[in-house]
Amino acid sequence: MEPIRILLVDDEEDFRQTVAKRLAKRGMHVRQASNGENCLSMLEKEPVDIVVLDVKMPGMDGIEALRHIKERHPRTQVIMLTGHACAQDGVEGIKRGAFDYLSKPIELEHLLTKINQAYDKIIREEEKEREAAFRASMEQQMIATERLASLGTLAAGVAHEINNPLAIIKESAGWILSILHKDELKDMPRRSDLELGLSKIQKGVERIRRITLQLLESVKQTDSLVSEVNPEELARETVDLVCKDASAKDVRIMIDSRPDVKRIWTDPYKLRQVLINLLTNAVYAAGPGGTVAVMIRPTNEGALITVQDTGQGIPRENLARIFEPFFSTKPPGEGTGLGLFVTRGIIEKLGGAINVKSEFGKGSAFEIRLPLHPEMEDMPDASDNPGAWLVNVEG
Ligand SMILES: Nc1ncnc2c1ncn2[C@@H]1O[C@H](COP(=O)(O)OP(=O)(O)O)[C@@H](O)[C@H]1O
Ligand SMILES: [Mg+2]
Repeated sequence: MEPIRILLVDDEEDFRQTVAKRLAKRGMHVRQASNGENCLSMLEKEPVDIVVLDVKMPGMDGIEALRHIKERHPRTQVIMLTGHACAQDGVEGIKRGAFDYLSKPIELEHLLTKINQAYDKIIREEEKEREAAFRASMEQQMIATERLASLGTLAAGVAHEINNPLAIIKESAGWILSILHKDELKDMPRRSDLELGLSKIQKGVERIRRITLQLLESVKQTDSLVSEVNPEELARETVDLVCKDASAKDVRIMIDSRPDVKRIWTDPYKLRQVLINLLTNAVYAAGPGGTVAVMIRPTNEGALITVQDTGQGIPRENLARIFEPFFSTKPPGEGTGLGLFVTRGIIEKLGGAINVKSEFGKGSAFEIRLPLHPEMEDMPDASDNPGAWLVNVEG
């Protein structure tokens, strides 16, 4: 523990020296000032925890010094020393914010007790401040989370509205293309230019469609089909799905599991979607010659699945933002910025948690922790579908 820092202010040199010596013996860090002005300029240079302040001093007296101390150093506690039979001065001091007062001649033990009490008060106040700051930051976080959630809902609403006109554009483009392919238009001038334009329209529509699907997925309160899942099997199946794409990009994917991994009750379709999102990101990040490892471990609560890559890692300033909708560092056309947003939503609905560890320049690891059972309230009767329960998982 840090020593208590004391500033002893008294115009009587002998008294000061004696008290200072004895306080120092008790392990306190003591400095001295001979008058009010001196006290204030010393505090300006180096703050202390407690000022032991004589009231009667030539020049600026203790009461006046107290006023300045409380104004400029509100955290500092002040113990007043009043003359014999001058209790009024002490009471006046307390009114003006002193912690307490002692009448001269003082007993050292008395002073020590007061100093310790004043120091306790400082500690308590600091704790209160820390708590208040923590609460304020939690509130800030909650506001940010709620804002993101409502942003997601809004975006999904827009996505829904876009879907119909999008389908019309897509069908119309296909329809025009099929007309262009007819024999009667074989010799039409610049037919290939028109075809090129139409196929660009189709590609653009595909891309918007991917975005709208993911957005809708992020807010859908779908019926979740929960069944007993072997996490390793599911991971292997999913790796098989992205394997071709990975080897085309010269990325190796390894699976590392343990025989004691337990089966968990979860939604295999949703979990597969999560793994596909994480694997796609990891393969992209790893790049040619890189490696992606999927590790499956048992935990007390269920299972831990880690998707780790040897990519460039995530810069610290991006770490807090990667789960935001539309946050992407990929070039236009390659990323939607929705993968991790959707992923986190799913994991939370499944009663789990997702965590990322990343070292810039070395790679990243996304950890998902899943419970043995998702939280299930009002579970419908599973009798006509043994082995699988239909559960409405709400976000
Ligand atoms: N394994 C990873 N390594 C490095 N950066 C990653 C990784 N996974 C995600 N990111 C970062 O998070 C961003 C958001 O990811 P995501 O939500 O999946 O959107 P997208 O992949 O479409 O960009 C990515 O653009 C990238 O900057
Ligand atoms: Mg992605």
